[in-house]
Amino acid sequence: MNRRDFLQFLGVSGVIATLPGCSTSHFMSSAPLGLPPSLEDKLITASGLDYKILIRWGDQINSQSKFGYNNDFIAFHPLEENRGILWVNHEYVNPTFIAGYERTKKNIDKERLEVGGSLLEVRKEKEEWKVVSDSPYNRRLDGFTKIPFAWKDKIQGSNHGIGTMGNCAGGYTPWGTFLTCEENYDMFWGERDRKGIKNEDSWLKWNKFYPLAPEHYGWVVEIEPLTGKSKKLISLGRCAHECAAVTKAKNDKVVAYTGDDANDEHLYKFISNSSDSLEKGKLYVANLEKGEWISLDINDQPILKKNFKNQTDIQVYVREAAKMVGATPLARPEDIEFDPLTGHVFIALTNNKPKKNYHGSILKIMEDNNDPGSLKFKHETFLTGGKEQGFACPDNMVFDPQGNLWFTTDMSGTDVNRGPYEGLGNNGLYVFIRSGNRQGEVIRVATAPVDAELTGPCFSPDHKTLFLSVQHPGEFSPSKDKLTSSWPDGEIPKPSVVMLTGPLLEKIVTGKI
Ligand code: FEO
Ligand code: CA
Ligand code: CA
Repeated sequence: MNRRDFLQFLGVSGVIATLPGCSTSHFMSSAPLGLPPSLEDKLITASGLDYKILIRWGDQINSQSKFGYNNDFIAFHPLEENRGILWVNHEYVNPTFIAGYERTKKNIDKERLEVGGSLLEVRKEKEEWKVVSDSPYNRRLDGFTKIPFAWKDKIQGSNHGIGTMGNCAGGYTPWGTFLTCEENYDMFWGERDRKGIKNEDSWLKWNKFYPLAPEHYGWVVEIEPLTGKSKKLISLGRCAHECAAVTKAKNDKVVAYTGDDANDEHLYKFISNSSDSLEKGKLYVANLEKGEWISLDINDQPILKKNFKNQTDIQVYVREAAKMVGATPLARPEDIEFDPLTGHVFIALTNNKPKKNYHGSILKIMEDNNDPGSLKFKHETFLTGGKEQGFACPDNMVFDPQGNLWFTTDMSGTDVNRGPYEGLGNNGLYVFIRSGNRQGEVIRVATAPVDAELTGPCFSPDHKTLFLSVQHPGEFSPSKDKLTSSWPDGEIPKPSVVMLTGPLLEKIVTGKI
């Protein structure tokens, strides 16, 4: 079967993709290429793949600001050849390494400076990307940044929120802006339901000192790369947004897919009225059994009209609205990417432990007429995690131009190498090969240091460098004197962005593997 036939086979029937354990299918070539599992406190890369650190937690990015903690999603905005602006999320903090667990206003203020995201000008010199340390484009958004709501009504009495946090994954728009998604905001602010009942028991207790409304968080935030100007997109609803993947419908209108990363939560799609804005349009939620996108517009749904005050109320409590119209509960929808070869939509379903789904899978959605603007679709499982397959809990993904699917895993720290995860070692970076002798193989190309998760894979425009976050190394260190990881410098662990390069990367992304 040649490459084209194989891809048609994948696209039309998807049979290989539905086989659990593609890595052991008959497409597999004899010599193993990937890394064995490891529990070492090292970032280990496969032979032919090297890494260098681009930036570490605490590095100065300009005279006022430092690179924040727990870097996650990375996106690249090209300026000219060999020059661009990177956006990097800073998801959350670890009090052990910031200011300690004592909950004082002073300590929380320190933490508020560590979240949000960084804008960084990068340049490629002598085949290596570097942060331009004095660039006027280098900026931080953090827990203090005032961000307007892009919406006609106020949210809990305000037209803006203070700060962005829980920034997990994100997206990049066709008009060249970054999207960053506020995921587990309840760890900072607690949560409140539609009846106003508040669960104040937030892990980090920021709400003790700053009584800000939880309803001001859980949004997708859009950022201009050159100015840092930002806004919260109320149109996409409020939930534990993992990411927002943007494409265009056949009629040129913008379409954004976003997953709500919690057990039994849902997959959403927003169809804009416009081809260059995400502010106005209609939000839908997926019903997989019917293969339908169901409208969350108050004027389309009598049950929503009966139960919600207005559209704003639906946007703010979108999880409740989604359930009323029959949304399908999913196994923690994480990252979403578009297959460059078929246009199909790939969604990482990381796990759903209460339902004994420990290893997760990757779901594929095929929109009718291959049109992201369609309201009907078919779906199937593309790849299933498991011990036999050598990976569990797929999370962030990126396709290369050959359609190879690079993905990271997120087995939670306390689970690593235990129970259903025994023998899988630390979290890793994998690639599913789409063509050639290794068609259908899942190759582990990197393994994270102790307690860490690899996140945010993002190619440079020439695909010769893969930017990757090493997030939360040493997360379970009991104290600064008792470290579980000392990556990368042999001292206090530092979340960092690394750059993967080398002949193996080049071989894979050019289809020569
Ligand atoms: Fe922050 Fe859903 O991972
Ligand atoms: Ca994630
Ligand atoms: Ca995750």
